[in-house]
Order: sequence, then C-alpha cells, then structure tokens
Amino acid sequence: MRNPKSIELLNQAIKEEETALHQYMYFHFVLSDMGYDLLANLFKRIAIEEMRHVEVFAERILFLGGEPKLGELSKPVEKIHDPKDMLEWAVNHPASPMRGLTLGSSHSKRE
Ligand SMILES: [Fe+2]
Repeated sequence: MRNPKSIELLNQAIKEEETALHQYMYFHFVLSDMGYDLLANLFKRIAIEEMRHVEVFAERILFLGGEPKLGELSKPVEKIHDPKDMLEWAVNHPASPMRGLTLGSSHSKRE
C-alpha cells in the first residue's frame, strides 16, 4: 500500500461524501412527499453529484493500493422536515457544493 496517510484522508472524504449523499436523498424523499417537486429534484441531483465524488475518491484509493471504505457515515441522517433547515444543513456541510453560500444575507436583499 502506497501513501497510507493519503488513503486514510481519502477514506475520511468518502465518509463525508456518503453522509451528504444519504442526507440529500432523505431531503429528496421528504420534499417529494410534501409536494415540493422542484426542490426535491434539486436535492436528488446533488445526491447524485455526491455519489460521483465518492467514485472519484474510491478510484484514487484503489490506484494507491488501498481499500475504499464504503457505507460509513460521519453522523446519522438528520430527520429534518423544514425546507429552510434543509438548505441550512446543505450550506454548512463540509462536503456540500453549497458550502459557503449564505441564506438571506444582505447580498441577496434589495437595497
Ligand atoms: Fe461532495
């Protein structure tokens, strides 16, 4: 095995990506049930993107001679049902493509 520290870090990244993937699919299921189809489909597309990130990290681990650890989450799926809270979660998760965005900031308000 080459670069065991790199493999460990890549497996940690997979864990964060899988946590996001599961959370976004949960959001998709709940929003779809509530009839918020546009937002539900957005979260589904983001979940698919997170799956692609898992794939990239897993391929790199195998290239380095390591074993990808799949099926581990950094935290359990949160049972969030408020769309605003879902967006807050997405903005704050380390693996999120929405990280760094702000909701309701002064930049998004009309002066
Ligand atoms: Fe990601």
